[in-house]
Amino acid sequence: MNDAKRPGLVVLISGRGSNLQALIDAVNAGQLPAAIRAVISNNADAPGLARAQQAGIPTHVINHREYASRDQFDRALMQRIDAYQPKVVVLAGFLRILGRDFIDHYAGRMLNIHPSLLPEFPGLDTHARALQSGAKHHGASVHFVTHDMDSGPVIIQAAVPVLPGDTPDTLAERVLKEEHRIYPLAIRWFLENRLSVTARRVLLDGREQPEQGLRR
Ligand code: GRF
Repeated sequence: MNDAKRPGLVVLISGRGSNLQALIDAVNAGQLPAAIRAVISNNADAPGLARAQQAGIPTHVINHREYASRDQFDRALMQRIDAYQPKVVVLAGFLRILGRDFIDHYAGRMLNIHPSLLPEFPGLDTHARALQSGAKHHGASVHFVTHDMDSGPVIIQAAVPVLPGDTPDTLAERVLKEEHRIYPLAIRWFLENRLSVTARRVLLDGREQPEQGLRR
């Protein structure tokens, strides 16, 4: 499939971009039949921008601080994304909360990865909170983005054990490896039209998944 014919992704980042790198690697390895059309960051210093540039992917910075309101920022972001006509918008460590109109505009075609086994630990500091709670397992979830933060229908989760002596950093590292495995997989399922979403659940190949998605 030549690049122009591949379904397009636009990836939004704010920081390190290791999940972006996993997507770039999956595309290059032939495991993700897609083209990353652009990477957009709200943060000009995001190290992930260099990863995109190295892979020859166009990058854009849209700094939220330069907009008077969230709506204006969201609109600028939307215009930039839509210029690439992506089939799916991928949030990969994008640290801005998005407004209702933005989320409605990409309903059913915007995915996020969150470092916990949702519905456990939505929000920030998930690894420290998992340790504090005494959880035996922790992990990551890929989900569709809906209005409620970190609570859209889950496509896939990966669980890891919490080990004695873990710190938030050691646990984060174990979870991150799984993130890099499940995000390309979930996007591939989406692009292959294998996912469908009912009110709260995601079907893979027409089969209902448990509330928390498919664990692999
Ligand atoms: C990941 O832990 C992801 O789950 C969360 O933000 C972090 C982004 O890391 N949404 P990276 O920028 O992809 O390395």
